[in-house]
Amino acid sequence: MNTNPPATLGFHHITMVSTDAPRTLAFYRDLLGLDLVKKTVNFDDPGAYHLYFGRNGGRPGTILTFFEWPRSPRGRWGVGGVHHLALGVPSPEAQLKWKRRLMDDGVSVSGPIDRGYFRSLYFADPDGQILEIATKGPGYAIDEPADALGRELLIPPAERLPGGRDEAAIAAAIHPEPVPVVTEDMRLDGIHHITGITDDLERAHEFYEAALGLRLVKKTLNQDDGRTEHWFWARYDGGDVGAHSALTLFGWPASSYVTRPGAGQTHHIAFRAPDDDAQAAWREHLLDLGVEVTPVLDRSYFRSIYFRAPDGILLEIATDGPGFDVDEPADELGSALKLPGWLEERRPAIESALTPLG
Ligand SMILES: [Fe+2]
Ligand SMILES: [Fe+2]
Repeated sequence: MNTNPPATLGFHHITMVSTDAPRTLAFYRDLLGLDLVKKTVNFDDPGAYHLYFGRNGGRPGTILTFFEWPRSPRGRWGVGGVHHLALGVPSPEAQLKWKRRLMDDGVSVSGPIDRGYFRSLYFADPDGQILEIATKGPGYAIDEPADALGRELLIPPAERLPGGRDEAAIAAAIHPEPVPVVTEDMRLDGIHHITGITDDLERAHEFYEAALGLRLVKKTLNQDDGRTEHWFWARYDGGDVGAHSALTLFGWPASSYVTRPGAGQTHHIAFRAPDDDAQAAWREHLLDLGVEVTPVLDRSYFRSIYFRAPDGILLEIATDGPGFDVDEPADELGSALKLPGWLEERRPAIESALTPLG
């Protein structure tokens, strides 16, 4: 394999499946406080909404997107799929505010659980996509040197494994007052990590290192199932772990059930390429590795290539530019239904088939 693969800066976006765009908008914009940065349709299926949420105008690494497929059956996580998406929060105090805000809205929440490297709060979106809100710190250097992460299997202490946690204290931890608005201190800062499931961690390691330049930053056990391993990769230069770059995989036994795509599941994960030239070189690199990859596709706000990991999960490499302000002013992002030029002539039919969004 190539010894000097291109290395991604981290995630560009994650795309999930919704059955109800108004409900998804209410959950991610109104409850979680993300900005709707683009309202468009799925370019490969123009009868379906494609909604983009993000921060700061849709900065790469903060972007969550949804295809609306009202008739999609519910999916199921498993090998070759994503188990959950974690969004970052600055502090444990802000995390407790989220617990209060979500529970007051009728969302079932568990945690915060001390994972060592961060603290985790779990819940699901209305379609069943498992979400986590994870604290920024303390980070991956708590149990091995910052310049030598991911070298050996680390066994978590007993208090972080099932049976060792103080479940009553976890359940009782909550912000004492209602949290009717999302305050600046609790603003969610995009993708903290994405956790998927594989039945071959070694093969996944070879692939993510060679194809995307990700580096192992932690090898440990699944803290909810001490019989299986949990590995973490990220943009890592031997010193810092890049924000919005941690991909983690649970290593399930061979012949575990495989994921079923559908509502409440992740459709694909996109990683960043800085520009078109880097993406073109990356495409050649993937072909050299024997990875089947699509031609470059113009997604208006970025350009994309798609390929699959050995477990089957669909991956994308998307360019940072041109960005979401290419077809509407930066201060009006998400306000109008935007269509690419080649769909404009079909606008009346497309608009009349979509449910209006507030
Ligand atoms: Fe997680
Ligand atoms: Fe995508």
